[in-house]
Amino acid sequence: MTATAVICGLGACLPQRTVTNEELAGRLDTSDDWIRTRTGIARRRMVEPGTSTGDLAVAAGAAALESAGADADFVLLATTTPDRLCPGTAPEVGYRIGLGEVPALDVSAVCSGFVYGLVLARALVTAGVCRRPLVIGAEVYTSIIDPSDRNTAVIFGDGAGAVLLREGLVSEPGAIRATDLGSDGRGSDMIAIAGGGSREPGRDGALPRDRRYFQMDGRMVYGQAVRRMTDSSRTVLEQAGWTPSAVGAFVGHQANQRILDAVADHLGVGDRCRFGNIAEVGNTAAASIPLALADTAAQGRVRPGTPTVLTAFGGGLAWGSVALNWPDVVPVQHDVEHAHTSAAS
Ligand code: COA
Repeated sequence: MTATAVICGLGACLPQRTVTNEELAGRLDTSDDWIRTRTGIARRRMVEPGTSTGDLAVAAGAAALESAGADADFVLLATTTPDRLCPGTAPEVGYRIGLGEVPALDVSAVCSGFVYGLVLARALVTAGVCRRPLVIGAEVYTSIIDPSDRNTAVIFGDGAGAVLLREGLVSEPGAIRATDLGSDGRGSDMIAIAGGGSREPGRDGALPRDRRYFQMDGRMVYGQAVRRMTDSSRTVLEQAGWTPSAVGAFVGHQANQRILDAVADHLGVGDRCRFGNIAEVGNTAAASIPLALADTAAQGRVRPGTPTVLTAFGGGLAWGSVALNWPDVVPVQHDVEHAHTSAAS
């Protein structure tokens, strides 16, 4: 049997504060009906001022370790909203979790960051670089959203999810069976924060509002999202030797319920095999897939070992998919206070 990486722990952290569609409709030119029918979102979570991506990542990462009953020897933190532009957030997160001087780095692939992190983690394990990588997807997306922009403010939310992996066999529950990654930089303007980087530093507060905040050309991105996630999912199905009808769990990046349904329809994955929590948490970018996994696992809705496809698409443009056996884990959820009370903080 071939060696691979196996998910052995699953953790999540959601901020307490819920922002409903009605609350947004009170201050933006939108409505609960528009948001629900166009996106599938009913509410999302938002951090209190002072809570950072690193705080959520510490709580979710520690939860994944508790779920596994084991420590990690490598940290990959997928995020679009690092605590600071420099340095990466992962080293501090690893330290605060109590992992000491483990290797740690951020993965910057926007909404595909968690899938990229999983694929890298598996490669690190099979190459013998580490034995138990912790992959965290964490976002305080509300920190980069213009609260007065109805195009984005209704979609995105905050949260974090994490998995611990260990070396194992492809036959085990939680085993990664096949992976696919891709990117198309021609679309780099479609989902972007234009300013604040080296191309347009905007020193001394010189950036106009639309260059400072996250912008997305939703209409342009929509078709790309459906096509890329469908093609990438087909690639991993083929590699894994699974027919679409064999797939018992499909968990896509929680970008938009209509996009997720279109991808699952194209693939031929049945209604009862589609799992996600977009209605409750919105689009949490790099955190969305591990949060959806934790939510589904907490409800015991999928039998361990079930053929599963994860797929994501987002800014870059970047996309990726993973075929795996559903893990045999009991997820742990911590609230953000955990990050402030854990031993190493
Ligand atoms: N409330 C009310 N009306 C809104 C609105 C809001 N929050 N946001 C946009 N509208 C309006 C638009 O201005 C437009 O009005 P017009 O027809 O007068 O021009 C109309 O609603 C339709 O806008 P459109 O952008 O075509 O809507 P849509 O059905 O494509 O839904 C998104 C918008 C963003 C939800 C959708 O395009 C989407 O999900 N795109 C992909 C997102 C994605 O996958 N991103 C990558 C990963 S994060």
